[in-house]
Amino acid sequence: MTKLAIRGGTPVRTKGFPRWPVWSEAEIQALTEVVKSGVWGIDGERVPAFEKTFAAYQEAKHGILVNSGTTALEIALKAAGIGPGDEVIVPAYTFVATASAVLNVGAIVRFVDIDPETYNIDPTKLEKAITIRTKAILPVDFSGRPADYDAILEIARVHDLLVIEDSAQGWGAEWRGKKVGALGLAGIFSFQSSKNITSGEGGILLTNDDEFAALARSYMNCGRVEGGLWYEHHYIGGNYRMTEFQAAVLQVQYDRYEPMLKKRQENAHYLDEKLSKVRGIRIMRSDPRITSHAYHLYIFRYNSDEFGGLSKKKFVEALQAEGIPASGGYGYPLHKQPLFQKRAFGRKGTSVDVGVDYKKVRLPVAEKACAEEAIWLDQETLLSEKSDMDDIVEAIVKIQQNTEVLL
Ligand SMILES: Cc1ncc(COP(=O)(O)O)c(C=O)c1O
Repeated sequence: MTKLAIRGGTPVRTKGFPRWPVWSEAEIQALTEVVKSGVWGIDGERVPAFEKTFAAYQEAKHGILVNSGTTALEIALKAAGIGPGDEVIVPAYTFVATASAVLNVGAIVRFVDIDPETYNIDPTKLEKAITIRTKAILPVDFSGRPADYDAILEIARVHDLLVIEDSAQGWGAEWRGKKVGALGLAGIFSFQSSKNITSGEGGILLTNDDEFAALARSYMNCGRVEGGLWYEHHYIGGNYRMTEFQAAVLQVQYDRYEPMLKKRQENAHYLDEKLSKVRGIRIMRSDPRITSHAYHLYIFRYNSDEFGGLSKKKFVEALQAEGIPASGGYGYPLHKQPLFQKRAFGRKGTSVDVGVDYKKVRLPVAEKACAEEAIWLDQETLLSEKSDMDDIVEAIVKIQQNTEVLL
């Protein structure tokens, strides 16, 4: 019997996985050029150029760069006319920004459970969450995997709802051969530090709608309008602008993106093939309608019953000890966060009765994913070689064969 690393044995892997961010002299040169140009902010050419580049890449008509994905979500909701009293449907398994953006425009969050085999919003549970106050569906392309847009867009059409995509993790993701981001009214992407294209912080909002784009751009830039004077303000906007430094870095990151995306996809498919043969591990469902998965995360599902009842927490610790940088992801879904349990939506975090008691909300799939099932590997782990993927599989099998010492 091989001794587990967590019990003092030799780890399957002592060599690290690739680090993130990936950068080179190209970023330094791009940043130096911005410094030397003396144009660091709004009058620069790099922000508008990257807006065009990224919008074209995601097959959208307009791109509006902002200072974060969170900001992009808030601006999108505002420009969609969503405000106090409106309800927005959000999956329970996502980063807090998807829901806090809704709260920040004064609207109410209605959580819907996720599909156990995709971890994206479960369209079969969507209609039950619609009320007369529902204005929009905010699906998330979680991990870079497009949500089920056939079902979501159809439900939205039937109930006259807007669709705003949280594609914070979806650069290059495709649904039926069409890039995500502007499948509905609008979509957003994040360029925060952990993201597959990054400028440390940053985000973009995409849309095909001219009027929506003009309004969103105005919200981003202090309520200014195209053709207006500098000190002329038409709407309650803010300063959510991106700098030339960020846009310069984004261009370089984007230039090396496509081969990296391919590599992540190849390694993820290889892992799928190998892990599907490991007892107690379930891979996410394959779906031919997903013609490109961005793999911000590689997710697989852990079944502790097949590991002698070993908890997810202990499994992850054992895996990390074997040199595999896995994590259990979110500790709990959004409806279980203190923010929602306490409904701390009022001034200074006081509780507000919004007509939904999140303490009573039960979303078993999202709850199980957090507590028992979901295991994440970060995107940079997928930037290594196939033999490195074999180490991941070997470490899981090693734990599987030695669980009794951990129980
Ligand atoms: C699903 C999701 N939505 C929204 C965001 C917010 O993006 P940002 O961190 O750029 O504000 C993130 C980023 O972590 C995310 O993963």
